[in-house]
Amino acid sequence: MRALQITNLSGPRSALEPADLPEPEPSHPLTPGSGVVVEVHAAGVSFPEVLQTRGEYQHKPPLPFVPGSEVSGVVRSAPDGSGLSEGDRVAAHCMLGGFAETAVAPEYLAFPLPDGFDYAQGAALILNYHTAYFALKLRGRLAVGETVLVHGAAGGVGTAALQVAKGLGARTVGVVSSDEKEAVARAAGADEVVRSDAPWKDQVKELGGADVVIDPVGGERFTDSLRSLRENGRCVVVGFTGGSIPEVKVNRLLLNNIDVVGAGWGTHVMGKPDVNREIGAAVGRLVEEGFVSPLVGARFPLEQAADALELIDGRGATGKVVLDVRAE
Ligand SMILES: NC(=O)c1ccc[n+]([C@@H]2O[C@H](COP(=O)([O-])OP(=O)(O)OC[C@H]3O[C@@H](n4cnc5c(N)ncnc54)[C@H](OP(=O)(O)O)[C@@H]3O)[C@@H](O)[C@H]2O)c1
Repeated sequence: MRALQITNLSGPRSALEPADLPEPEPSHPLTPGSGVVVEVHAAGVSFPEVLQTRGEYQHKPPLPFVPGSEVSGVVRSAPDGSGLSEGDRVAAHCMLGGFAETAVAPEYLAFPLPDGFDYAQGAALILNYHTAYFALKLRGRLAVGETVLVHGAAGGVGTAALQVAKGLGARTVGVVSSDEKEAVARAAGADEVVRSDAPWKDQVKELGGADVVIDPVGGERFTDSLRSLRENGRCVVVGFTGGSIPEVKVNRLLLNNIDVVGAGWGTHVMGKPDVNREIGAAVGRLVEEGFVSPLVGARFPLEQAADALELIDGRGATGKVVLDVRAE
């Protein structure tokens, strides 16, 4: 099968090489001897793959390996009792191996592709939307009527967090860096948008402050995120695209009665079928209710994955970046 491998750690432009690999067995490292085999039509591209090309991601598989954590396509085979059958359209989180014509996912991380979604949207569904639900509801304890501030609001996690927050009954404020990204954040459901190069913290306070901050960016703005929280507010740490890992002066937590909460979706859900089904069902309800519909941004053929990675690395991506592995 056609695939791309990371063969070295020289960065997004040069770390990937095409490879002709044998088809994978129906087995996944999380479910040895069992797995859903997917004929891949679209593969999602995300920040972790950029980091993997430099050896900077927390999981460091031995070289060479096929990156790609999520795919969408057609089930080729599925274990009995998985609820999936050959020929079903599916969205699946495979962790690795998605930049290939065939990939394998644990059965509890493979979900029927909602009617009306194309494969590109399917490749945008699990990582970002399951993370968004996990971060907002399970870690951020979001309640109906609360206000959510979303950093990186035009990005993959950001657009997902806006849609899920609206579906959970919140008012939403997005933080973005450009006009183009403002339009994307509004399309994803931001009620208000503030600019990262403006006095956004003061603007958010004028809007009444935030009950929950979803922060996939980190860096210098973190202290202002804490300052923009209302009493009993929660700042949910999701990622560090801004580059640096912020530090917290904990007196701020005491003085304002606020929480800083970590949300590591992968670490929490791997090996927990019930939690995945619960989150999958919740996201599925939000799809049915019309709140969740992934915004796909740039699309590239599999062989141009380096362009996709560089787009993300250069802060140029909006919505979800997708590789078209097979023509639809
Ligand atoms: N915790 C979890 O379970 C989990 C799950 C999935 C992803 N993540 C993490 O979440 C983060 C966001 O992922 P994503 O897929 O949403 O990425 P993305 O689509 O590239 O969006 C990231 C956003 O970060 C902002 N940003 C600010 N400074 C940046 C910089 N120096 N370089 C690049 N972007 C910068 C950009 O928005 P502006 O230009 O508008 O500022 C950009 O839209 C990543 O760190 C990823 O690893 C964590």
